[in-house]
Amino acid sequence: MTLRRSILAAALAAISSLAFAADPIVIKYSHVVADQTPKGQAALKFKELAEKKLPGKVQVQVFPNSQLFGDGKEMEALLLGDVQIIAPSLAKFGKYTKKLQVFDLPFLFDDIAAVDRFQASPTGTALLDSMTSKGIKGLGYLHNGMKQLSANKPLKTPADAKGLKFRIQSSDVLEAQFKAVGANPQKLAFAEVYQALQTGVVDGQENTWSNIYTKKFHEVQKYVMNSNHGVIEYMVITNAGWWNKLPADIKKGLSEAMTESIQYGNKVAFDEDENYKKKVIDDKKAEVMSLSKAETAEWRKAMKPVWAKFQGEIGKDIIDAAVAANQ
Ligand code: LMR
Repeated sequence: MTLRRSILAAALAAISSLAFAADPIVIKYSHVVADQTPKGQAALKFKELAEKKLPGKVQVQVFPNSQLFGDGKEMEALLLGDVQIIAPSLAKFGKYTKKLQVFDLPFLFDDIAAVDRFQASPTGTALLDSMTSKGIKGLGYLHNGMKQLSANKPLKTPADAKGLKFRIQSSDVLEAQFKAVGANPQKLAFAEVYQALQTGVVDGQENTWSNIYTKKFHEVQKYVMNSNHGVIEYMVITNAGWWNKLPADIKKGLSEAMTESIQYGNKVAFDEDENYKKKVIDDKKAEVMSLSKAETAEWRKAMKPVWAKFQGEIGKDIIDAAVAANQ
């Protein structure tokens, strides 16, 4: 090769490596809820922060409302590398670990502050690594809120739920919870809930105020009970293999963006829960009813046996640590 040719070749190689370096890493963040919810807001905040901290190096694409992948598909897609970040409800990890079922136990947490304390405890933190052997890395927990029951009849006591069909997330604990009150639970993807309620495929469901309002479940339900009988909370996860191969500076920037976006989403969860409840009430599409202390005690008594059923799979130490977080 002549000198001129080799200079030219070297220059071309430099240009192409520059062009390669200039290609941002595309990160797809997919979820099933609306943009306005705590998870929707956290995802958008992550995009904003990651692109600000790593200008030109990453491009984050957020796909809300099951647009890219819905329940059932998103976990497989993550493992196949078709999406890089998802934040499923903790009720949807049963295939990968049984330990996270603790979050589904009915009447376990008094409020989201208690959930927060448990997640921050050594036991809670360790659960972020409960799926590493399956190739899933937990990047952090994210709050949503307490669950409320809804149906086309008031559900004052467990007897009122007998024989009704309830949509549930894909959780065996939630299945047992509804069976405990003589109801018929049906596992359905989140994207299918509105239609299932509208067409009468199911009679009721359980969800947080932000999900009920943004997905209009209250428009196709006559009653929403302020039952606070459980929680919907998330783990933001990524593909461990993909994450481990990222350059150190990218990993650092993404970790920081993730931590800050979770803090932001958690603030939305704490600040907006009451507002979403008010919006459901003000809409006057469904009647929002509260439960008396005695009625709540009846629900608790009927559902609490579920704990013992799952204690072996979850681990007594984990349940005890969660109970202790109630203070
Ligand atoms: C549900 O399926 O009801 C929830 O898990 C949806 C969500 O992600 O909040």
